Amino acid sequence: MKVFQIGAAGGVGSRLATILSERGDQVTGMHRRPEQAETISATGAVPVAGDLIADDVEALAERMRGHDAVVFSAGAHGTGRDKTTAIDGEGLVKAADAAARAGVRRFVLVSVFPDAGRDAEPNEGFEHYMRVKKAADVHLAQTDLEWLIVRPGTLRDEPGDGSVTAGLAIEYGDIRRDNLAAFIAEALAVPALSRMIVELTDGRTPISEAVARLAER
Ligand SMILES: NC(=O)c1ccc[n+]([C@@H]2O[C@H](COP(=O)([O-])OP(=O)(O)OC[C@H]3O[C@@H](n4cnc5c(N)ncnc54)[C@H](OP(=O)(O)O)[C@@H]3O)[C@@H](O)[C@H]2O)c1
Repeated sequence: MKVFQIGAAGGVGSRLATILSERGDQVTGMHRRPEQAETISATGAVPVAGDLIADDVEALAERMRGHDAVVFSAGAHGTGRDKTTAIDGEGLVKAADAAARAGVRRFVLVSVFPDAGRDAEPNEGFEHYMRVKKAADVHLAQTDLEWLIVRPGTLRDEPGDGSVTAGLAIEYGDIRRDNLAAFIAEALAVPALSRMIVELTDGRTPISEAVARLAER
């Protein structure tokens, strides 16, 4: 499978690129800072420079052509409201339009669990982030792409254990980036996980079993 990753140098993206490359997929990893090329090469993926803000739809489509799937795990990562709008929001819209234009039908989006931050002090920046992520989900869900929206709980960096809880509606919890990346890698190759929103946390079900159960639905 030829996979085009947006956000490939990030915490989730680099883990996913490593898993996909190790299992023999051909991965192109898009990055916006020159020094990130090295991070991406180290995963086994081929780096390609690109910027969700600076590039237009055709420029993104040009890079995506010939791939079988796009995975979007880019994000502004708390760098401000305007960047959240431009990257997590408008960036996702551009990337989905580009995938459609490039004829890449499979599109996986790393979204956010709807209960995130529920018990924290109200914070306008976080509320904005949640609104933008939801709007991105709404946009992608209205496209004709074979989309899969994954809504992970709070991301953690501890080593993964290959087990999750995955479902259409589950209790909120943390998830290790390793486990999220492994879930996406498994789900990418299962066409039945299409036009579906999946909530995901750490849990007790082996990832291949969790994906197989969702595919039976
Ligand atoms: N943190 C959480 O607990 C949590 C929970 C649920 C969901 N999420 C979502 O999970 C996703 C991935 O998380 P992560 O830990 O992998 O984040 P991350 O490490 O911040 O990775 C995001 C990547 O996106 C890239 N990016 C940002 N702006 C870009 C642009 N204009 N063009 C191209 N690439 C750009 C970043 O590059 P730069 O280094 O150049 O900025 C970075 O490599 C995010 O979408 C986030 O919203 C996070």
